[in-house]
Amino acid sequence: MAVAESCKFVYGIDISFRAALIARRVLLGQPEPLNSYRYYREGLAYEERSLSIIPQRNVEILVASGLDLPSLLNFLKFVHCANVVDTVNQPWTLLKQSLGTLKVGGHLLLTDPYFWSPERTPIESWIGVESGQTTAIALREQLEQTCKIVAEIDGVLWVLRVYDRYFTLWFSDCILTQKK
Ligand SMILES: C[S@@+](CC[C@H](N)C(=O)[O-])C[C@H]1O[C@@H](n2cnc3c(N)ncnc32)[C@H](O)[C@@H]1O
Repeated sequence: MAVAESCKFVYGIDISFRAALIARRVLLGQPEPLNSYRYYREGLAYEERSLSIIPQRNVEILVASGLDLPSLLNFLKFVHCANVVDTVNQPWTLLKQSLGTLKVGGHLLLTDPYFWSPERTPIESWIGVESGQTTAIALREQLEQTCKIVAEIDGVLWVLRVYDRYFTLWFSDCILTQKK
């Protein structure tokens, strides 16, 4: 939503139909508004919480893969790849596709905690494994070949709530690059 306020038009993409449907209901109020959600407390206890979000007119959500982005996405000014790098089976393809949609001078914001898992990504495709580097270093070296790193903050705190008494704390890497 914050991105929609500063851009002419925003496309959100997820490969999951369910995630895309929820995003459409929340952000666009389509096919029907989502006015509340079930907030998990503990055990069998839930709480119904209300949601009131003004529908956005300059947003569309697509069910698509970041590994093969739709051709309508081209010459973009800004792409945010939010916590997807370590969930796909071909992370370099995701980055190549994301950079491919940008116009020269456009920005790519990458955020990720690099929580690799062989169930999602074959080990040989984990960024940095081949060169024996950490993902953060290998990724920067690769990005610098086609982009300028404009800003970077590693270790951004990210709190995920499981239930009332169980939270996880992540340290995400954030890199803002500009396509040369
Ligand atoms: C860790 S979640 C991040 C969700 C959200 N971007 C955020 O930051 O809160 C990873 C998301 O990536 C989506 N995903 C996995 N593979 C994908 C792909 N090939 N293309 C697009 N989205 C994908 C999943 O469905 C899931 O919603």
